[in-house]
Amino acid sequence: MHVKDIHRIGVVGAGLMGHGIALSFAVHGYDVHLWARGQDRLDQALQNIRSGLQLLQQLGQVNSEQAEAAVLRIRSGVALEELATEVDLVVEAVSENLTVKQELFGVLDRTCPPHAILASTTSSILPSALASATRRRDRVLVTHYFNPPALVPLVEVVRGPETSDTVAETVCDVLRATGKRPAVVQKEVPGFIGNRLQAALVREALSLVEHGIATPEDVDTVIKYSFGRRLAVAGAFEVGDLAGLDVYLNVASILFPAIESSIEVPSVLLEKVERGELGVKAGRGFYEWTPEAAAALRERIGRALVEPRSSQ
Ligand SMILES: NC(=O)c1ccc[n+]([C@@H]2O[C@H](COP(=O)([O-])OP(=O)(O)OC[C@H]3O[C@@H](n4cnc5c(N)ncnc54)[C@H](O)[C@@H]3O)[C@@H](O)[C@H]2O)c1
Repeated sequence: MHVKDIHRIGVVGAGLMGHGIALSFAVHGYDVHLWARGQDRLDQALQNIRSGLQLLQQLGQVNSEQAEAAVLRIRSGVALEELATEVDLVVEAVSENLTVKQELFGVLDRTCPPHAILASTTSSILPSALASATRRRDRVLVTHYFNPPALVPLVEVVRGPETSDTVAETVCDVLRATGKRPAVVQKEVPGFIGNRLQAALVREALSLVEHGIATPEDVDTVIKYSFGRRLAVAGAFEVGDLAGLDVYLNVASILFPAIESSIEVPSVLLEKVERGELGVKAGRGFYEWTPEAAAALRERIGRALVEPRSSQ
């Protein structure tokens, strides 16, 4: 199987990730079959897809004809058997629940054509757990998109122990054809790559605040106005090579014993959650939020996500 054999993509689940993944494929010329459990969810997803296309237009990623063409490429329905029979690749994006996903993979295995590749955008379930619900273990993997999937270029392609080389390569080629930058996780591990790296940063940031070393604002200022900017164009290993690996070695020997290594949930986070200070959705988290301030931050993030692409 080759990238040229992939024409129709099934997207199963039409929530936050599902509608954005459907949008990403449709904008890049793929026919999409979008499935959700109920017509109300599908109607909401199609509305979200239109809003997403408007944002892409504002950001100069598509023009109005391309946006209209993308909408026409999406066929949607609530009968999985009808949508799944003609697909070459499925991306599953239902709620993060192992039993639900395994059941769905069993149904997809029985319904999709034998050649079809089954992928999941799960954040935490390993591909082997999904493959075990099917009789096509060589054709199952994880394609872990980041939110918002139409804008973030990265997709982690996580191989299970039985995923074939050809399937992993074909999926990477399809993702490249939709403007994505795939990164392959060769051995399945919880958190894959991106969430492990983010968790390491978040643990240290929470620790700095918990121990009164800095305020959340100052921690965010350090991230945004120094290495955060550099990270958009150069990764840890590129930066290490520029700095000199002897410097990296010194930093590792002095700082690794000093930084946070606790496996406990930090109390600064626990207390916020117990008080209902959940962030934007509650109007207060580490910052105070109005809907306007949250919308402005989302727009800044959207712009930053598309702008660095021109320099790569
Ligand atoms: N939200 C994120 O930032 C993010 C990022 C990367 C990956 N993910 C992963 O993407 C997947 C979807 O997350 P989301 O944020 O889009 O969630 P969501 O709640 O927005 O959407 C999930 C959809 O699944 C549907 N659903 C729930 N149970 C179902 C069932 N039994 N059968 C069919 N449909 C069912 C829901 O109706 C909903 O429309 C999860 O596996 C999540 O871990 C989420």
